[in-house]
Amino acid sequence: MTTFKRNILITGGAGFIGSHVVRLFVNKYPEYRIINLDKLTYAGNLANLKDIENQPNYVFVKADICDYEKMQELMELYHVDGIIHLAAESHVDRSIKDPFTFARTNVMGTLSLLQAAKVYWEGLPEKYEGKRFYHISTDEVYGALEMTHPEGIEPPFTTTASSSEHHLAYGKDFFYEDTKYNPHSPYSASKASSDHFVRAFHDTYGMPTIVTNCSNNYGPYQFPEKLIPLFINNIRHRKPLPVYGKGENVRDWLYVEDHARAIDVIFHNGKTAETYNIGGFNEWKNIDIIKVVINTVDRLLGRKEGEDMDLITYVTDRLGHDMRYAIDSTKLQKELGWEPSLQFEEGIEKTVRWYLDNQEWMDNVTSGDYQKYYDSMYKGR
Ligand code: NAD
Ligand code: DAU
Repeated sequence: MTTFKRNILITGGAGFIGSHVVRLFVNKYPEYRIINLDKLTYAGNLANLKDIENQPNYVFVKADICDYEKMQELMELYHVDGIIHLAAESHVDRSIKDPFTFARTNVMGTLSLLQAAKVYWEGLPEKYEGKRFYHISTDEVYGALEMTHPEGIEPPFTTTASSSEHHLAYGKDFFYEDTKYNPHSPYSASKASSDHFVRAFHDTYGMPTIVTNCSNNYGPYQFPEKLIPLFINNIRHRKPLPVYGKGENVRDWLYVEDHARAIDVIFHNGKTAETYNIGGFNEWKNIDIIKVVINTVDRLLGRKEGEDMDLITYVTDRLGHDMRYAIDSTKLQKELGWEPSLQFEEGIEKTVRWYLDNQEWMDNVTSGDYQKYYDSMYKGR
């Protein structure tokens, strides 16, 4: 039997970000066994991991993080010494319709995983030594920032993100690691609660935890209920693009592989009990990013650039729609030397090209249940 140097449980590994993290760890660390635990909800898709599924250091387990006995069993079976916890319900619009599912998975599921890790690790002779519980959270727990400089100001830090003027910074405030939690949606409230439980397990039991809060991710394998893949697919099929409110809300975008690289660096070198913000200093108003996506899809499909602008359809705003998110990731950049590798224009080009080249993936995930869900959510908006 092969003995692995580490046994790392990655939850939610069949989802968007999780699949990139699993791929990175499986390929980069053949000496680690990577156990991908996922319930395969509508958002989990094993096709995201086809390229690594036969690697000798990869194991997939279909399970629900809320199943406490199962979590205990898996900790022992695989001698888990590190956890990277991404499994969650992740879509704000769904949380507005069905908050219970978010409380169950994001709060109770995280607690179940924490307790299973605690019982298993405390029962070992070395206890918490060499262990790590790394919880992946979101910038949405901090609430929303104001648009104090609508014209945009140059941020006072070095960034490898694009230098195009219109997405530098839309306000003078940023989310810092010590920004007070102020979640507004059922999704962010459930993530905030799970973050508190993780920190409580450190403070109460001494569990070696880390929490990171990341901004909006974009890239391949994102479920097309989220802005960028949804709009790419709609433009391709010349379907309306439902822009919430006036399209003025600001999000801070990071290429998903850069997030996965940050997770790698933090898992290995981050300090126990610390929080790190992850983001690329890359703010965009929704309407501006939508125009870039339209132009890119049109160009790559051989259409006249911008000819699909008339698909933009302003619809009723999202309830409680947060105005602006902007992450300050200086701590991570200075202390651990991470920085985003891609210019935004490069990242969006890669992303659009990937979705256009992977129509089969898109057709699979947009058929069946997803389509019914989409109709029930957006009809009449
Ligand atoms: P996703 O919705 O694409 O994937 C979530 C995965 O979790 C799916 O594979 C799903 O099957 C699995 N899952 C859901 N409930 C489960 C359960 N009860 N038990 C086991 N598995 C379950 O989400 P994502 O966008 O990849 O986000 C991953 C994590 O990163 C989440 O915790 C999210 O809050 C956080 N995050 C996401 C972003 C973003 O922009 N997408 C940004 C910051 C943080
Ligand atoms: O900030 C990090 C968060 O980013 C993550 O924690 C969440 O898991 C992730 O889903 C994402 O949340 P957002 O709500 O910001 O992402 P979404 O893609 O749903 O929406 C991005 C912006 O676009 C938001 O302002 C709402 C708007 N929007 C979205 C959709 C789906 C539209 O205008 N129309 C749409 O159809």
